[in-house]
Amino acid sequence: MDRERGGDELAEYAEFASEAVRAAGAILRERFGRPHDVRFKGTVDLVTEADRAAEALIAELIRERYPGHHLLGEEGARGAEAPSPFRWVVDPLDGTTNFAHNLPHFAVSIGLERQGEPVVGAVYDPLRDELFLGIRGGGATLNGARLRVSATDDLLRSLLVTGFSYDFARRELQADVWRQFLLRVQAVRQTGSAALNLCYVAAGRLDGYWERGIAPWDVSAGAVVLREAGGTLTDFAGGPFRSDDRVVLASNGHLHEAMLGLIEPFERGFLA
Ligand code: IPD
Ligand code: CA
Ligand code: CA
Repeated sequence: MDRERGGDELAEYAEFASEAVRAAGAILRERFGRPHDVRFKGTVDLVTEADRAAEALIAELIRERYPGHHLLGEEGARGAEAPSPFRWVVDPLDGTTNFAHNLPHFAVSIGLERQGEPVVGAVYDPLRDELFLGIRGGGATLNGARLRVSATDDLLRSLLVTGFSYDFARRELQADVWRQFLLRVQAVRQTGSAALNLCYVAAGRLDGYWERGIAPWDVSAGAVVLREAGGTLTDFAGGPFRSDDRVVLASNGHLHEAMLGLIEPFERGFLA
């Protein structure tokens, strides 16, 4: 009975998250391709007026519906301060650099964590109208159709993806790891959206993804989608994945050990 009620509760959160990513996605779709007000948060890390407008809308929806929940938004939105088992983790525009260059690949990502564990994830690509949804214990879907990771079990046949940090010093190390993969796999992509990378592995479009220097809002939602599609997530030492840990190794499961074997020697001692 408790478990049933828990399931219903998650389904309700998932419905809310789906509506919120669609509403924010409509803002991004409308603004895509127009001139933007671009501001720099770092040397190459930028933010546009669309990031801020989408986050403001999502934060308003969350605060209105779940005033007692915590909220962590990339652009600064916060929720309740009193203790709560729930935390919403929001990336209003994952793929900002693409968006600012009019490259049509980005998404809205909303995750819900319960006691630190990602339990609901909604990732919406507004240009392709693709809604990826994961509910812990309830499966993963793309526009309502069940998702399943690929069966690829040979690195040489695998199509992988990674991302590079906005921090140049970290890019040096990332480039060394990237080189290891390049010489052993079919191809390595770099799409510019961590959330979509995870969802694409969940959908079997890609076979694995790794990145160092990511934030909780990049991966919390996608992690649920991937896990529920049968995928595996860990840190770079093979330990449990945590959205706050800044690293993610995600795969269809079959390639996990092989990927870990390539990453680990480089990353040992550099997990942050
Ligand atoms: C970035 C994207 C990119 C990843 C970076 C993220 P943003 O998020 O997910 O793919 O490589 O690590 O910061 O800045 O576009 O929201
Ligand atoms: Ca992001
Ligand atoms: Ca973002």
